[in-house]
Amino acid sequence: MNILSIKNLSAGYIVNSEFVEVLRNINLDINEGDSFAIVGQSGSGKSTLALSLMGLISIDNGKISHGNIEFCGKDISSNISKIRGKDISIVLQDPHSYLNPVIKVGKQVLEALEVYNNNLTKEEKIKRVQDIFKKVKLDDFDRIYNSYPHQLSGGQKQRILIAMAIINNPKLLIADEPTSGLDADVQQQILDLFAELKKELNLTMIIITHNISIAKKYCNRIAVMYQGELVEQANTEEIFNKPKHEYTKLLLNAVLE
Ligand SMILES: Nc1ncnc2c1ncn2[C@@H]1O[C@H](COP(=O)(O)OP(=O)(O)OP(=O)(O)O)[C@@H](O)[C@H]1O
Ligand SMILES: [Mg+2]
Repeated sequence: MNILSIKNLSAGYIVNSEFVEVLRNINLDINEGDSFAIVGQSGSGKSTLALSLMGLISIDNGKISHGNIEFCGKDISSNISKIRGKDISIVLQDPHSYLNPVIKVGKQVLEALEVYNNNLTKEEKIKRVQDIFKKVKLDDFDRIYNSYPHQLSGGQKQRILIAMAIINNPKLLIADEPTSGLDADVQQQILDLFAELKKELNLTMIIITHNISIAKKYCNRIAVMYQGELVEQANTEEIFNKPKHEYTKLLLNAVLE
């Protein structure tokens, strides 16, 4: 079943009072259960697409200029904020700027839960945060709960952000470059965690990465983005065995070299 459908989406940013288009006419269909990769080089518009999907682009002086977004068959273009963090969640690129440096991380996870589940008792909320810490494999609950972001490692901070993203049981989870800035072994652990969570929580996942090898290992479908356009989308095997677009071939050659 189709979970997310993007139709003729164009978006961009207002720079010096002028609208500069970054995404052009994006069409994308994601099925329930997909692990879907969006790959492309730096500046190709991957994060802009993710922000547009989440209704967050306006925070960055941007706007959707055309097109619409359907989630489970319903047009959500004008009311994404009502389901953001609940049905669709995102782990944003650059966790450092996203976590509040002066609030303990446990409280930040708790607050993410309260946005949609404030009816729970205090004990139920803490229990839920405890469960989520286990799910993202953060041991030593009391210490981590009471830490400020700067007291945690990069991998631990990323796990906190994942905890915040999944605490309200989303159906679709978007991870924008979820391992940038992490050591190779931590990168591997975080990607494996996403794969485990996907199975355990029945998630549909979109992984945004410039690394097509990550897409091959973790995703069943790949969309290739080039200069603000999606130039090709197909099953992973097809992309690797029968790439159609010149830019896709270039990406693959870079892997093989
Ligand atoms: N807030 C902004 N205002 C103006 N232009 C922006 C803004 N954010 C991004 N852009 C521009 O939009 C284009 C796409 O940027 P985007 O961040 O979406 O790329 P990306 O594919 O996510 O790159 P990366 O792999 O480096 O994260 C770039 O040319 C960038 O300069
Ligand atoms: Mg980006």
